[in-house]
Amino acid sequence: MLAGFVLLLVLTAVDGEKVCSHQDVLNHLNLTRHNELYSLTRPVLDFRQPTNVTLDILLYAILEVRENDQTFVPYFWKFMRWDNQYISWNQSDFCGIEKIYVPTEMLWKPDFTIEEMIAKDRAPPSPLLTIFSNGTVLVQNDQVLIITCRMHVHKFPFDTQSCNISFKSFIHSVEEMKVFCSTSSKEVTKESRELMRTQYEWLFQNMTVTSKIVNTFGFDQDLIIFTIYMKRRSILYIVNFLLPILFFLCLDLASFLISDGGGEKLSFKVTVLLAITVLQLILNDILPSSSNRIPLIAVYCIGVFTLMLLSLLETILVMYLIRRDLAPQDSETDEGRSPREDKQGRNNFHQCGGEEKTWNDSVCVWDVFADETPAERLQTSGSQLTEESQGLEKLSEDLRVAVKTLRLLLNSRTEDGKPGYWARKTKIINKCFFVCYAVAASLFLLLLFLNWN
Ligand SMILES: *[C@@H]1O[C@H](CO)[C@@H](O)[C@H](O)[C@H]1NC(C)=O
Ligand SMILES: *[C@@H]1O[C@H](CO)[C@@H](O)[C@H](O)[C@H]1NC(C)=O
Ligand SMILES: *[C@@H]1O[C@H](CO)[C@@H](O)[C@H](O)[C@H]1NC(C)=O
Ligand SMILES: *[C@@H]1O[C@H](CO)[C@@H](O)[C@H](O)[C@H]1NC(C)=O
Ligand SMILES: *[C@@H]1O[C@H](CO)[C@@H](O)[C@H](O)[C@H]1NC(C)=O
Ligand SMILES: *[C@@H]1O[C@H](CO)[C@@H](O)[C@H](O)[C@H]1NC(C)=O
Repeated sequence: MLAGFVLLLVLTAVDGEKVCSHQDVLNHLNLTRHNELYSLTRPVLDFRQPTNVTLDILLYAILEVRENDQTFVPYFWKFMRWDNQYISWNQSDFCGIEKIYVPTEMLWKPDFTIEEMIAKDRAPPSPLLTIFSNGTVLVQNDQVLIITCRMHVHKFPFDTQSCNISFKSFIHSVEEMKVFCSTSSKEVTKESRELMRTQYEWLFQNMTVTSKIVNTFGFDQDLIIFTIYMKRRSILYIVNFLLPILFFLCLDLASFLISDGGGEKLSFKVTVLLAITVLQLILNDILPSSSNRIPLIAVYCIGVFTLMLLSLLETILVMYLIRRDLAPQDSETDEGRSPREDKQGRNNFHQCGGEEKTWNDSVCVWDVFADETPAERLQTSGSQLTEESQGLEKLSEDLRVAVKTLRLLLNSRTEDGKPGYWARKTKIINKCFFVCYAVAASLFLLLLFLNWN
């Protein structure tokens, strides 16, 4: 009797255990891999009823933004939820089983496509979906997509980009499938902000949800657009790009302190100009060639380049003028001085009489006096002679110095009296140009940065 009672208890226990497995729910639903009832058609009892699909996404990461080919790679989770009217079970009949997990291919799923998608999903699809006892089916999937996004790089690198991810059904019209988003823009932004794992170059700002009905293939379809706003972290571009160019401009300004005489100024300016060209080449790789408006950074580059080019041209002009200044003076003095020297030489020759020497004025003067001494020597006595000759020597010495200084004076007058006309003009040109250059550069930079922000 007792044994029989125990056996009964065990039997009921085994019976209860049997009822508690997920397979029992599947058996109850007759949900097998080959049951076409679930996987083939839209799960409504009356075909006139629409299937209401709730679609939500949560942004996990902005993996890549490529301005050059105008693409954007987000990593997000997608949640889809709809009712399958063929499915339902009473939880209390199955030990309170609330939900079961089955392979995704066993049930019908909404046929969503993303309009902007240009490459297949890189993340593997989720293998399972969830079925609730009231017939609600939930699919969650992570997706890494390459999405085309028109970027506006006008304000690069201080730009904010917005990219759309638009979901719609491949073939179902709005009468067959209604698409909703259960979360508002605010909630989705908040949740995504909390989830955000990696934010490298781009800072996630906010996300908006818009739903609208579009008529693409002759019938109305629900379209859900998630717009992601993101801001570029510009600090690296400032440090690596904008500042160096500014420094080069300062160097170019500073090069006005280098003298125009040698070629150093010219080679210095050319070097700085080449450095800007290299930076411009780098810029070419970053920016898309298809931008509709010229990016301000390109204006900045070409503006600085133009300023430097003008200053280089000015240097070349100044150097040309200095050359022009020097060249005629050289030829003039060569032509002008030689006859004078010849004349002097000839005078000396006349004064000093027939001796072939390298004639020096002082020597000649001394010789003139020396010539006179023998005549005087005849009239005076020997003691007087020595005295007078000493005095004469002194006089000749004084005269020699006087002539020397006169000659120096004369020489200096010829150099100063023939002023470098262009040398003076170039100084003025340099000064004016420097002022204009500095004013133009600061005005240009000011206007540009005002426009940039
Ligand atoms: C379950 O489906 C199979 C075919 O897929 C069918 O033969 C069988 O009768 C169904 N059983 C129930 C209880 O509906
Ligand atoms: C789907 O949504 C519409 C409008 O919100 C509602 O009228 C309809 O009853 C819903 N259908 C189902 C199956 O829930
Ligand atoms: C589930 O089953 C219990 C008892 O078996 C019953 O009381 C309850 O009303 C049922 N619930 C539904 C939703 O059918
Ligand atoms: C079914 O149950 C799930 C989970 O409890 C719930 O989220 C969903 O809103 C329910 N669906 C309906 C149509 O009541
Ligand atoms: C994104 O969608 C909005 C709303 O339809 C639209 O105004 C905007 O132009 C779209 N942006 C892009 C980049 O396609
Ligand atoms: C999202 O960010 C963009 C850019 O910062 C801004 O223009 C827009 O108003 C923001 N939208 C919301 C809903 O905050």
